[in-house]
Amino acid sequence: MKAAFEDVLKCAVDEIELSKEELIVLISAGGKECNALFQLADQVRRRYLGEEVHLRGIIEFSNFCRNNCLFCGLRRDNRSLPRYRMTQSEILEGVHKAAGLGCKTIVLQSGEDEYFRADLLAELVYRIKKEMDVAVTLSVGDRPREDYEIMRQAGADRYLLKHETCDPLLYARLKPGASLAGRVEELRWLGELGFRVGSGNMVGLPGQTVETLAGDIVLMRELKVDMAGIGPFIPNSQTPLGSCPGGTLEMTLKTLAVARLVLPLAHLPATTAVRTIDPQGRKLALKGGANVVMPNMTPRAYRTNYLLYPGKTGLTDTPEESFAAAVEAVTDAGCKVASGY
Ligand code: 5AD
Repeated sequence: MKAAFEDVLKCAVDEIELSKEELIVLISAGGKECNALFQLADQVRRRYLGEEVHLRGIIEFSNFCRNNCLFCGLRRDNRSLPRYRMTQSEILEGVHKAAGLGCKTIVLQSGEDEYFRADLLAELVYRIKKEMDVAVTLSVGDRPREDYEIMRQAGADRYLLKHETCDPLLYARLKPGASLAGRVEELRWLGELGFRVGSGNMVGLPGQTVETLAGDIVLMRELKVDMAGIGPFIPNSQTPLGSCPGGTLEMTLKTLAVARLVLPLAHLPATTAVRTIDPQGRKLALKGGANVVMPNMTPRAYRTNYLLYPGKTGLTDTPEESFAAAVEAVTDAGCKVASGY
């Protein structure tokens, strides 16, 4: 191990707040340094959050999207993707199933689909909260502040809105018509409105450096996020970034581990994307700082078309099978399924 790396790791052990430069040293870990980093992240996770892993059932209720993000298969110019929108009763049925299986949190995610206006989502959230004892996370993209307010008043507990990358130029290039500043402002609104806020970023985006990744973590520390979804970028041939290289397992695990050191209490999922690039990805993430798994609770008929990136696993599984696989991953990693929210 290099002396500089050891020094920074020692500061992390002593829980001294790390600068962006120090985070870069950690994210640049190589060889044996990686193992030391993963072990420390695992220790920090166990010290602050124990061995409990939360299962959050995700229902991908619409793949219509008005946006044209260069990385995402749901982009509006992707005409080869059959579009679907679940009905309110299908969504409710899905939530009942997920809650019945034991999910304490339900994540409702979609493309930026204008059909699902705030009042419609509010009605859905209200009914879920009335009928079931679950926390509700919404992940439906950029909205005016009033919309967030309506959803919050209806009982939504959390909101997931990844900042994707902290590099404003890269953000603007990847998300035509949008700005990082706009998204960060929304993240602040969400916090002000009383949501538990989740953000996150992709690892391995074209044009990204280790400095960007350190900046992503610093931004999430500033925003005091409750949750950070960190997953590899996976090139999708149906998008303009189809021929770019994707994020690696190692870089994703290192970023996740450093995020754990900097955000000891945050919920960090072992993402579907990390499982997609490596069959061991989910387990390795759980052993290196992650404490959340998000089983896919989308009905089988629809999930094949929620294709953000290729190779997504579990596309032919039923919600029951996805749930069982998530429980197995938790046990395999030597952890326990959490009983709280
Ligand atoms: N590779 C990895 N993650 C992706 N997402 C979208 N497209 C891709 C891709 N090609 C992620 C983004 C988004 C979430 C819903 O999916 O981080 O926030």
